[in-house]
Amino acid sequence: MSSLKGKDIISALQFERAEVEGLFRLADQLRKEISEKGVLDYAKGKVMATVFLEPSTRTKLSFQFAMVRLGGEVIDFEVSASSLAKGETDIDTLKIIDGYDPDVMVLRQKKPHFPEEIAGMIKAPIINGGDGPNEHPTQALLDVYTIWRELGKVDGLTIGIMGDLKYGRTPSSLSYLLSKFNDITIYYIAPDVLQIREEVLKNIEGKVTYHQVNDVSGVMEKLDVLYVTRLQKERFKDPSEYERLKGSYKIDKEFLSKFKRIPIIMHPLPRVWELDPGVDELPQAKYFEQAKNGMYIRAALIKEVLGV
Ligand code: NCD
Repeated sequence: MSSLKGKDIISALQFERAEVEGLFRLADQLRKEISEKGVLDYAKGKVMATVFLEPSTRTKLSFQFAMVRLGGEVIDFEVSASSLAKGETDIDTLKIIDGYDPDVMVLRQKKPHFPEEIAGMIKAPIINGGDGPNEHPTQALLDVYTIWRELGKVDGLTIGIMGDLKYGRTPSSLSYLLSKFNDITIYYIAPDVLQIREEVLKNIEGKVTYHQVNDVSGVMEKLDVLYVTRLQKERFKDPSEYERLKGSYKIDKEFLSKFKRIPIIMHPLPRVWELDPGVDELPQAKYFEQAKNGMYIRAALIKEVLGV
């Protein structure tokens, strides 16, 4: 599998199903090799730049750990101490970093579609680590990888995606990646004002069966996976709208105990109030495992993009 060598990774829509399954198998293989050897040497002599112009914990750290585990080096752009504060543009900053010749660059930026705009100007392959509310393709890889590991398949599953589907970038990329599989049903569970964007529905039309509902109770027992997301507070134009919606959906142990069948519970994290820590003790809680899987699937992706 070398079809991803040198490619920019911009959208979850760009993947072929065979590439995705190849990445899942490679991630499992790397997991085993890393547990045996600690640090591998596939990426020896290669350098990855991480450029996160919006906050991040998991995405940045898991990419950095992944590159180190592959035997490569990481240079991180320190946004707070950079010349962005002097007024330098993001484009100039990225061109300068690219001039130092990284072998791959992971970029998070707040403008939708910014990675496509910049890709032609940057020599290094770009991996989109989140472009504002638009997409987060590597999160989708780790989400579907987690489903594949936990449930042993992806085809035929019913997935509930709940929360802020309007401003979240993980629901869109997850929908796109699921659309590569067969016989998928998605329930979008959100108040009307936070429902999934039209453009996302357009991109999955005919490939996925989907329904939009306001309340999880009526669909819970149909779900194989419940994927919860937080309200994207930082993207609300009107803070009073956030306050109004805050607490409008919440999953806790008591609520879950009402159902005969509890699906596996996932969340891209960070969680705020929508997923109670009491749920963590249930065997269905998979979000910490999910975050951990992120390192292995990103290691697989880096290895393929580097072609090593
Ligand atoms: C997500 C993101 O940044 O979009 N976090 C992550 O990468 N794990 C989800 C979020 O911030 O709500």
